[in-house]
Amino acid sequence: MSLFFVLNGPNLNLLGRRQPEIYGRETLADVERDCRALATELGHEIRFHQSNHEGALIDWIHEAREVAAGIAINPAAFTHTSVAILDALKAFDGPVIEVHISNVHQRESFRHHSYVSLRADGVIAGCGTEGYRLALRRLASLSERAS
Ligand code: DQA
Repeated sequence: MSLFFVLNGPNLNLLGRRQPEIYGRETLADVERDCRALATELGHEIRFHQSNHEGALIDWIHEAREVAAGIAINPAAFTHTSVAILDALKAFDGPVIEVHISNVHQRESFRHHSYVSLRADGVIAGCGTEGYRLALRRLASLSERAS
């Protein structure tokens, strides 16, 4: 059994109510419930967190260094701005999958660049909230390969 962190950046607490035409109507609680169900099905565990604060996300990445076999992260707007989150992820040894609910490449040009992609082993964008489950499946298969 492996432990994976699922981390969510700013404004994702408003999922389901914020720009539903882009991000859909599912809430972050729905996403967490579905991720937990899938993790159980796959025989793994998750810790699921959201923060609007960069430092909190960095602290969870540091915690993951000690206990987690992989990280799925939707850094939200910090994707496009945060060298600090990139550096924290570079200090994590396991696999990192970057998730975006929307297809960032179809959107404004400032969303086309991701600092986090410089470290991510995989990127999932435009698959809606299913992207989180795809990321967990990928982390599970990578952790099986590693063991
Ligand atoms: C997002 C895309 C980002 O550009 C945006 O700032 C978000 C959410 C997504 O999941 O599609 O807040 O990461």
